[in-house]
Amino acid sequence: MPSKKIAVLFSGSGSNLEAILSKIHKKVFNGIKIEVVLCICNKPDAFGIQRAEKYGLKTTIIQNKNFSTREEFDNELVKEISKYDIDLVVLAGFMRILTPVFTDHIRAINLHPSLLPLFKGSDAIKQSYESDMKVGGVSVHWVSDELDGGKLIMQRAFEREDDMSFEKWERKIHEIEHEILPLSIVKILS
Ligand code: GAR
Repeated sequence: MPSKKIAVLFSGSGSNLEAILSKIHKKVFNGIKIEVVLCICNKPDAFGIQRAEKYGLKTTIIQNKNFSTREEFDNELVKEISKYDIDLVVLAGFMRILTPVFTDHIRAINLHPSLLPLFKGSDAIKQSYESDMKVGGVSVHWVSDELDGGKLIMQRAFEREDDMSFEKWERKIHEIEHEILPLSIVKILS
């Protein structure tokens, strides 16, 4: 059976990594098996490492703090990814700004917790909650050399409830993320 291999890069809790592992890892879509073959994390104490272990996956740790430039760190990522025959790299909460050393060589998608092009950057959930927007949402997009700026693959919005708390706003975003990131991967690969 034809199969497609993915790498998942993350930095923290890894709930989106887990959504990928539970919903699509080693499963068949339109006759194509999707498999996570590589997990990379830049933080040695990230909880996502334990989530990967539950699925028998060892995470490769590449700490950005051990590199003096972004380019050197990105080069190490590219080197590691190139050891495997990867069809798609998924950035699932990977909190690094990537340089062309990475973006010019790697076919990757990114998950972002807002309706892009609104609220780019690292604090999108808080920024969108504190705005007067009546909707929030999530985007999945191709990675380009512009931060959170590549072509959109999938977006989903939700309506702000009256007096919605920050916790509920954040919960809603994560709920949507856990659906549309796996869906986007399947859409691209099968
Ligand atoms: C997710 O909300 C993701 O959208 C966000 O980090 C979180 C990771 O959660 N990514 C960004 O903000 C990228 N700019 P997780 O570790 O539980 O998957």
